[in-house]
Amino acid sequence: MNITICFTGLSSEPWVQGLQQAFPQATVSSWVPGAPQADHAIVWAPPQAFIDEQPGLQTLFNIGAGVDALLQLRLPANLKVVRLDDAGMSVQMAEYVCHAVIRHYREFDGYEADTQSGKWSYRKPRNRADFAVGVMGLGVLGQRVAKALQVFDFPVNGYSRSLKNSEGVRCFHGAQGLREFLAATRVLVNLMPLTPETENILNHATLSQLPKGGYLINVARGKHLVEDDLIALIDNGHLAGATLDVFRTEPLPAEHPFWRHPKVTVTPHTSARTLREESIAQIVGKMQALQRGEAINGVVDPQRGY
Ligand code: NAP
Ligand code: GLV
Repeated sequence: MNITICFTGLSSEPWVQGLQQAFPQATVSSWVPGAPQADHAIVWAPPQAFIDEQPGLQTLFNIGAGVDALLQLRLPANLKVVRLDDAGMSVQMAEYVCHAVIRHYREFDGYEADTQSGKWSYRKPRNRADFAVGVMGLGVLGQRVAKALQVFDFPVNGYSRSLKNSEGVRCFHGAQGLREFLAATRVLVNLMPLTPETENILNHATLSQLPKGGYLINVARGKHLVEDDLIALIDNGHLAGATLDVFRTEPLPAEHPFWRHPKVTVTPHTSARTLREESIAQIVGKMQALQRGEAINGVVDPQRGY
């Protein structure tokens, strides 16, 4: 078996070592132009030249959950694209989202400002029933986030493409379910994949269907959000603010208004990081399953885009 690793902007050496240890008989190497044909590739943002030079590849393992960038490349129709399934990401995402929801709900930013000015003052407790959290995308990450939020007794709504039945979650689906989902949601958490259907889905028309005082947490992809529409809705008082981990341009440009907006919290695409050991273990397990001729999870449907 020949395994190649092609990363842009990341060191591949520890991955080469991890894979070589798991498959001592295999040839494992970092890709360079002109390298021999490989059976499997592990990739992060590979150039088109890599795909074009490796027509014999059977499987392309992406070291992330989202495959939107990969699907922009010209890929052979028979090439199996495999995403990471959780691999330690869902617990990180649950931590991030619960932190952002609770920070907003309990007004910890206000307390922080009071503390800075030496002020001892209380805010009136808010009614949890008024803070339904709507998880948009009930997949590997969204399901875990929904479960984590239930521990704090927030009402939880879920939105997906197909109908879901998830205990304790009020489920909505499809284009017709979106309006009802948004109207019933105070804090919107975006965890959908970026596809032609979902690009720009967080825009003036949809975000204004959240009730007044609504709040956005975007942890999926920057291109889901029309950024100027969000700023306008915060500035006109319809939305209370946002926590954003992903942006149309990353790194977020220094002059971008999100950096200085008092009601916007910015983090650098870090809500759920790829963990190397967990990811190598998962990919190794899938390669072994493929060797045995078994089916594996996480195979991307290029028509759906995720
Ligand atoms: P997933 O398992 O593929 O789940 C996607 C969910 O979105 C599914 O419930 C799916 O519905 C729903 N969905 C897809 N298209 C839809 C549409 N047009 N309308 C309504 N619902 C739709 O993905 P995941 O592993 O949870 O990851 C979600 C995304 O998170 C990734 O694609 C990636 O962009 C992002 N992400 C971000 C970070 C970060 O650090 N910020 C880290 C990891 C992942 P069905 O269930 O009906 O198919
Ligand atoms: C990160 O954003 C991922 O898609 O895994």
